[in-house]
Amino acid sequence: MQRVPLGTDAAMFRAMHRDIVAAPRALPPWELLDAAALPDATREVVRRTWSARVEAEYRSMVVFGEVLARLPEAGLPLEVSSAATRLVQDEARHTEFCARIAEAFGGHHDALLDPTSLRLVDDGLAADLFVARWTASMFCIGETASVGLLEVLSEHATNPCVAAVIDSLLRDERMHDRFGWALAKIVFPRLSDDDREWLGADLAFAFAHYDANDAGCLRPDGGKVPDAPTEPEDALALGYGAASRWRLAPAFYRRLDEVILPGLADLGIPAYEAWVLRTEAPVPA
Ligand SMILES: [Fe+2]
Ligand SMILES: [Fe+2]
Repeated sequence: MQRVPLGTDAAMFRAMHRDIVAAPRALPPWELLDAAALPDATREVVRRTWSARVEAEYRSMVVFGEVLARLPEAGLPLEVSSAATRLVQDEARHTEFCARIAEAFGGHHDALLDPTSLRLVDDGLAADLFVARWTASMFCIGETASVGLLEVLSEHATNPCVAAVIDSLLRDERMHDRFGWALAKIVFPRLSDDDREWLGADLAFAFAHYDANDAGCLRPDGGKVPDAPTEPEDALALGYGAASRWRLAPAFYRRLDEVILPGLADLGIPAYEAWVLRTEAPVPA
């Protein structure tokens, strides 16, 4: 395992990266991260939450970079490649924002990357299937779900800096969500019936992953949202962007029912079948 590589002495890259991080809108008011005001236990809950996001956002950047690299081979227009570069930059900014919050609360030393997760390209998989696979899982499920989760976090954020970071992420993820569905509308109709079946079977693994990670409190009982918290929630930490999965799970399921499953099915992907099949896929660690 390796640390998320943040920081460089090379002035050229530092300057270009600073422009990307600062470009779209005002920077969050970092001086308002009042970590010292929190009890130790709450501080640790907040730190751990944002440290986990450092890893997740960095992974998004890796995936988008790999998808970007295969868009030309899959015959997508220049404008799609150009637009996708913006997404890579957004995820780099998200990684840095999350790292900044984690640092203020004690660090992100536990945000570790499995080296095997940093290389997705399967040379045996044709570019159109590679792009379709990651469009379905990272965009149509991942980005679509994350809009719902961030809306919950935004609603409860009380610290002004955390609220600014969450709103900045949410604004970008809404665009990524729209980007993903626009890409899906080009990519999925080009697939053969057999390829769409293959994609549906592959989606079962993606659903198992997101179900376990974004709504893990519901497994293994199989899909019923509990009425009462299934894990303790630190009310103070909630204001700093750390919510329990019990609070987040309903938002995930709402996005699933209202957008993800019908959206994929409309594009000819057997998503409802894949959702059922997820329970037979290996439960991700
Ligand atoms: Fe992100
Ligand atoms: Fe994103």
